[in-house]
Amino acid sequence: MIIGSAFFGTLSYASVAPIPDAKFEHAPYGDRVCSLCHQRDDENSPGPLNQPDVNSVCMTCHDGFSGKHLHKAMQTSCTNCHNPHNGNSSRFLRASVPALCTRCHTQIGNIIANSETKHGAVEVGKSCLNCHNPHASKVEKLLNGLPYDLCVNCHNTNTLVDHNGKRLANIKELIESRPYVHAPVAEKDCSACHQTHGSKNFRLLVEPFPATFYSPFEESNYALCFTCHDSTIVTEPETTNLTGFRNGDKNLHFLHVNREDGRGRTCRACHEVHAAEQPHNIRDGVPYGNRGWVLKIHYEQLPQGGRCAKTCHTTREYRR
Ligand code: HEC
Ligand code: HEC
Ligand code: HEC
Ligand code: HEC
Ligand code: HEC
Ligand code: HEC
Ligand code: HEC
Ligand code: HEC
Ligand code: HEC
Repeated sequence: MIIGSAFFGTLSYASVAPIPDAKFEHAPYGDRVCSLCHQRDDENSPGPLNQPDVNSVCMTCHDGFSGKHLHKAMQTSCTNCHNPHNGNSSRFLRASVPALCTRCHTQIGNIIANSETKHGAVEVGKSCLNCHNPHASKVEKLLNGLPYDLCVNCHNTNTLVDHNGKRLANIKELIESRPYVHAPVAEKDCSACHQTHGSKNFRLLVEPFPATFYSPFEESNYALCFTCHDSTIVTEPETTNLTGFRNGDKNLHFLHVNREDGRGRTCRACHEVHAAEQPHNIRDGVPYGNRGWVLKIHYEQLPQGGRCAKTCHTTREYRR
């Protein structure tokens, strides 16, 4: 993790002197009794602190923060973030969130500023504090809750739209209502596939995955799936063991996906990556035409293969 030089209080960030005509005032400073924290009661020269360090000053009136995970910035000094006297941000923060945070977390700031796919979660509501506690937490990475719970507590409606205005699925409902849940999703590991702060890939994915229904085949475009699954399921035209989706030794993954002509089907043509109603994570239906019709995929498992009824083509069977 890269922490900017602001951490040790340099540049414009240095002073925590009282700010003239500030919007918010810290109660003990309000009465101008400087000696509550300084050695003297002289507004013009209050002198050093009356405790050995800043945090000890704060702890004379506030409880400290406890938790399994403590923020280094909090342990070092409360004044990394709070002006002890007053300020123009609520709680006399020295800048408002997220600027307060990205001043030190420059790498996260860069991800947010430069990512092609941005995440609304860092923009809406309390920004960083939607997911992180600024002081301490029971969960690692100072999270306010378990990552899965954080994700599905926002992704629990049909009203979220992406930056292109496209409606996003209600992931919580989808996962909880469907019987065939993809293993990493069942393990509640959204981060196995998604980056939370921003990403260069479609849908904040950690590795590339095509954005479209059809796409000419290129192995690197499926890097996401192939971090866990063997790419030979789609690269070998013939096989007797690499994939269950074969007819005799004809690899049907190869046949559908591995085409250079722009009619190669992407995995989403058949699979639902989070959770599905049908075995092997086969999706319910596929969009058809440009009016949003959905053609049902009736998939049936057979003892030695499977069958797809009346969808993209007439009923077809495969047998291994
Ligand atoms: C709630 C505690 C508190 C009160 C009350 C308080 N101060 Fe401070 N003040 C601090 C702390 C903490 C620092 C930071 C000291 C440090 O970093 O070593 C500080 C630093 C300062 C500084 C130096 C800022 C800088 O960065 O150079 C000035 C000036 C100052 N206080 C003025 C005052 C005056 C004047 C009063 C009374 C009207 C006052 N303070 C009351 C806690 C307080
Ligand atoms: C002399 C006692 C005293 C000291 C010392 C003190 N505070 Fe406070 N602080 C208060 C009081 C009183 C309030 C107002 C409480 C309230 O509104 O609930 C307050 C409020 C706050 C708030 C706003 C809380 C809120 O809910 O809006 C923050 C943030 C805060 N203090 C931070 C600090 C920090 C940081 C230090 C050390 C630099 C410090 N305090 C030292 C007495 C103190
Ligand atoms: C990394 C930045 C950061 C540091 C360091 C920090 N705080 Fe805060 N603090 C915040 C933010 C941000 C909030 C506002 C939280 C919110 O609105 O949910 C806050 C809120 C508070 C509040 C209001 C009540 C609450 O718990 O939300 C108090 C009191 C407080 N801080 C005291 C302190 C004290 C005392 C220290 C040092 C031991 C400290 N803070 C160090 C960022 C910080
Ligand atoms: C003054 C600099 C500073 C500020 C401001 C700051 N942080 Fe940090 N933060 C740190 C340091 C230092 C670490 C510890 C890095 C390490 O151990 O590698 C850290 C660690 C973290 C971690 C990782 C904790 C872990 O267990 O790995 C998170 C999450 C975090 N900060 C979030 C925030 C958020 C949110 C804010 C704004 C409310 C914020 N930080 C503001 C300096 C800062
Ligand atoms: C949607 C929830 C969410 C929001 C909003 C969010 N984070 Fe995070 N953050 C996470 C999760 C989950 C992790 C741990 C997994 C990971 O690294 O992606 C994390 C990790 C971090 C880390 C530790 C990185 C590391 O490499 O260990 C820092 C620092 C951090 N976040 C800072 C921030 C800052 C600053 C903001 C606001 C600009 C922010 N986060 C907003 C969820 C969030
Ligand atoms: C505070 C609410 C909130 C939380 C928490 C949250 N999200 Fe989001 N998420 C949004 C919003 C709002 C959007 C839609 C705006 C956007 O980013 O395009 C979104 C969009 C997304 C997108 C689509 C982005 C795109 O444009 O293609 C993905 C993927 C996503 N979130 C995954 C996650 C994951 C994984 C987590 C948990 C680590 C999470 N979200 C937590 C609010 C949230
Ligand atoms: C195995 C990898 C993987 C895991 C784990 C995963 N996702 Fe996804 N997610 C994807 C892929 C791939 C897409 C793009 C799907 C598509 O467009 O067909 C996506 C799309 C999304 C979208 C956009 C949905 C839409 O309607 O376009 C959201 C929101 C989302 N994921 C949230 C989550 C959350 C929350 C979790 C954890 C519960 C999670 N994802 C776990 C791979 C994953
Ligand atoms: C983080 C690892 C991981 C990633 C990334 C991942 N998967 Fe999986 N997937 C698994 C695991 C583990 C299983 C269960 C064991 C198995 O069947 O291999 C599984 C099972 C499946 C199944 C169901 C197999 C069955 O017969 O029931 C399908 C279909 C699938 N994955 C498709 C995909 C697609 C498409 C992608 C890319 C969008 C992807 N996976 C990305 C780990 C992953
Ligand atoms: C034309 C539909 C279709 C497409 C496109 C498709 N799959 Fe499959 N896939 C299936 C079927 C049907 C099965 C079940 C095979 C069986 O009977 O065991 C399957 C099974 C799987 C399995 C379980 C292991 C195996 O190979 O049997 C994984 C993993 C998998 N697919 C991943 C992917 C990935 C990754 C992509 C995109 C690169 C993809 N699939 C594209 C139809 C498809």
